[in-house]
Amino acid sequence: MLKFNHENIVKFYGWTLVEEDPQIIGIVLEWCNYSLDMAVTQIKVDPFKIIVEVALALEHLHSFNIIPRDVKPHNILICKPLGVEWSNAVPNLCDFGCAKKCN
Ligand SMILES: Nc1ncnc2c1ncn2[C@@H]1O[C@H](COP(=O)(O)OP(=O)(O)O)[C@@H](O)[C@H]1O
Ligand SMILES: [Mg+2]
Repeated sequence: MLKFNHENIVKFYGWTLVEEDPQIIGIVLEWCNYSLDMAVTQIKVDPFKIIVEVALALEHLHSFNIIPRDVKPHNILICKPLGVEWSNAVPNLCDFGCAKKCN
């Protein structure tokens, strides 16, 4: 599991047991409350800001030789806590299930 500390990479907080089924292990992540689709089409978040910030996330991963291999709109989520202006919403890259470290 990736454990990177970057503003535009969804934060990994740890593992948890799922009470209803002890055979399932849950992943605890930072909660991102908007999809990219909703943020861009309904709320009109600046797409340029999103592209730039996702590029910063990719640059950070690449500096550790990590390639996510599944970068697509569904894997970009937007965090906008209550009371925060939309102009300060933070795009986050998520879903590192296909990520690979290259030498
Ligand atoms: N941290 C998160 N906060 C809010 N929703 C999330 C978060 N992580 C995943 N999701 C939601 O779950 C969907 C699937 O999760 P994802 O990690 O992309 O797995 P996969 O695409 O492999 O099923 C995402 O597209 C998103 O809608
Ligand atoms: Mg996904």
